[in-house]
Amino acid sequence: MLSNQGRNGGKRKSLHGHWSSRMAFILAVTGSAVGLGNIWKFPYIAGQNGGGAFVLVYLLCVVLIGMPVMMSEILIGRRGRRNPIATMELLGKEEGSSGHWRWVGLIGVLAGILILSYYSVIAGWVLVYIVKSAQGAFVGADSDTVSAIFAGFTGNWLSVTFSHTVFMALTVFVVARGVERGLEQAVRFMVPALLVLMLTLLAYSINSGHFMEGVDFMFTPAWDKLGWGSVLAALGQAFFTLSIGMGAIMAYGAYLPEDTSIMGASGAVVVADTCIAILAGLVIFPLVFANGLDPAEGAGLVFHTLPLAFGKMAGGVIFSTLFFILLAFAAWTSALGLVEPAVAWLVEQFGRTRSQAAVIVGSLIWLAGMGSVLSFNVLADVSFLAGTIFDNVDYLTSNIMLPLGGLLITIFAGWVMCRNSTADELGGAGTTYKMWRVLARFLAPIGILIVLFNAI
Ligand code: PHE
Repeated sequence: MLSNQGRNGGKRKSLHGHWSSRMAFILAVTGSAVGLGNIWKFPYIAGQNGGGAFVLVYLLCVVLIGMPVMMSEILIGRRGRRNPIATMELLGKEEGSSGHWRWVGLIGVLAGILILSYYSVIAGWVLVYIVKSAQGAFVGADSDTVSAIFAGFTGNWLSVTFSHTVFMALTVFVVARGVERGLEQAVRFMVPALLVLMLTLLAYSINSGHFMEGVDFMFTPAWDKLGWGSVLAALGQAFFTLSIGMGAIMAYGAYLPEDTSIMGASGAVVVADTCIAILAGLVIFPLVFANGLDPAEGAGLVFHTLPLAFGKMAGGVIFSTLFFILLAFAAWTSALGLVEPAVAWLVEQFGRTRSQAAVIVGSLIWLAGMGSVLSFNVLADVSFLAGTIFDNVDYLTSNIMLPLGGLLITIFAGWVMCRNSTADELGGAGTTYKMWRVLARFLAPIGILIVLFNAI
């Protein structure tokens, strides 16, 4: 095979520089993985899909499909050292297949843009909740008051547009400055701090008197409630929360030093991400039951339960403000991963500066995001296929584009790339390599196909 041809004495360099250390890479990928997906989305999707059985399938998807896809993405990214579109094209040709593999990169760029279009809207809500928390709006509030605050805010399209705009501006700002410094610093502080606050909340929810009810809901599988639709939702959530299937991790992999273990780094990220999601569930569901709320209430779930809990806590104003600040940081570091493939592509392919690329991509996403902004107010009654515009963009990206991207990525890494190339990136042909190869060649693609096929 042609695996080593044109590799500049074996090893390429990325145009955008490299992570300063293994830790920097792990932090960046963790920053991309840990976000609204863990704290906002996981509890509400689990709630809508009946809890226990969904959570179990989600965990299986993370380990058996998510992990090999993540490793494949990193190894492809590091081998190509370009933006995901150029990398797929280059490696496609180099491995004796075809340059058409660039389409995988292109679908990924599009998925990133679509995801951020609604992600930014929710992140905007988080920004507003920082202010509301600091003003003491939730102190002593009951469920109806918290609901009314949420409905009052999201029902006003101008306010939602404003917060969406602020979040997009923040994202463009950091992306324009270049990823390395700002990102590393933010994540180094954010993930541990978030963990501490979640543990504080956990202590509160353990004392809510309904903790076991929450645990039961999350971990006792009611298999009869699990249809293929829920299995697809679990698969989609696994992809979404790990940031895989759209090239974000591939783009980050392009900046990874040669000597870093891909298996080790992926493992660390997957464990951290999963722990935060489970922790979020353990915090949210007991609060749902303690307050007689509905676990299936949807996208507003976290914005309903958490302010209620903070409102009754001593020092709630401070904790609550801090919590939403951290959540905003988590969303911010995830947003960077969502735009990185598009930005790196514009820079490499069209010779744009990073700032220009960030502004172009950011404006496009902002515009696309208006569809989701209006889904909660003016166009709340417009419903087709999966629901509102927001629901459809979410369904299309998480449940279709990401799994499809992951499918093609594992097929590429497992079947198109020759053994020497992948073994070279994964540090030799030992047992872990063999395990990865079986998962990437058989279990992951077949699993994804079965779920997609049955659910659609
Ligand atoms: N993983 C992020 C989250 O859980 C979302 C994301 C998806 C980020 C895809 C980058 C790429 O919030």
